[in-house]
Amino acid sequence: MENSINNNFPIEIKDVESKTAEELMKFFTGEHTGFVRVGPKGYFLPHKYRQEASNIYNMEVRPSDIFVTSYPRSGTTWTQELVWMVANDLDYETSNAIPLTERYPFLEFSVFVHPVMMKRFHDENSDSERKIKLLEWVTQPATEQLALMTKQRFIKSHLPLSLLPPDLLDTAKVVYVARDPRDVAVSFYHLNRAMRTQGYIDDFKKYWKFFISDLHHWTPYFEHLKESWEKRNHPNLLFLFYEELSKDLPKAVRRVADFLGKSFTNEEIAKLCEHLSIDNFKNNKSVNYDVMKELGILISDGQSFIRKGKAGGWRDYFDEEMEQEADKWMEKNLRDTDLRFPHLK
Ligand code: A3P
Repeated sequence: MENSINNNFPIEIKDVESKTAEELMKFFTGEHTGFVRVGPKGYFLPHKYRQEASNIYNMEVRPSDIFVTSYPRSGTTWTQELVWMVANDLDYETSNAIPLTERYPFLEFSVFVHPVMMKRFHDENSDSERKIKLLEWVTQPATEQLALMTKQRFIKSHLPLSLLPPDLLDTAKVVYVARDPRDVAVSFYHLNRAMRTQGYIDDFKKYWKFFISDLHHWTPYFEHLKESWEKRNHPNLLFLFYEELSKDLPKAVRRVADFLGKSFTNEEIAKLCEHLSIDNFKNNKSVNYDVMKELGILISDGQSFIRKGKAGGWRDYFDEEMEQEADKWMEKNLRDTDLRFPHLK
């Protein structure tokens, strides 16, 4: 079992015990080596994280950078587009022309592309030079792309604050978005089936067990949220909830505008909210992860990256036993914090 700490990355990385890892890889077929746990909270990530941990932790942060971070499926894409539009003075033309994936390098995505899967994607796309270039671009470590960028940088990450550069909050701005974990789990379950880098092959009930047992990428879920929640009064961090965007999007837009020092008329805000509505998002090629579909990394099985876009849809997936288990799990994890989801207050 390999444990390691190095000076450039002063946080311990431990391999997940091989028996557990082998069991998990039967269900998550995109991983072929194993998993690690990182730091005192034991954040769960693919083995390949070892290669990138230090580059991410030590990347240069610039004062103009804007990070959008979250636990996956919490409304990251929605928040990214909102933040980008506000920061760029409602530049619809560029937003429509350049996909969000290009406007926001995904900091740790390369960690999720196992060499076995990379070879597979390469072989499948080998008939097109353009696609191979695209594949190489989306799977390249984002730190390399970011280092070369000269314009203001927008960065997506699902890493908790403790695994991001330690000077992040004192240097740049971070918008964090959180969502009811039951909706997160349902949404992430669908994505785990559709993304071949995850390749989940069983049912939701089993998936939910992995999720609440912290045997899933980027978990423990509540620790992730709590790290940002604790910093919610830091002037460079804005903490949002998906349910808050769902309930009153214009208000959320104003919060983001205040945070970024921008101001818009009511008409401009109404137009932006229309642009950000789920129906427009579903038809907006710039935000719906088409690149991943084109490369075959995301299976096009009718379940798109932008899915239902509703709060509370989890009820259709939970039986009574799971509902009770969820209540207990949430109650236990919220006991030592004043973090409360706005729709559950
Ligand atoms: P569902 O799968 O519940 O529909 P992320 O961007 O963090 O991966 O989050 C994806 C979730 O946000 C998906 O949830 C997706 O449908 C939802 N979402 C994306 N854009 C949205 C929008 N414009 N309005 C409401 N929900 C949106």
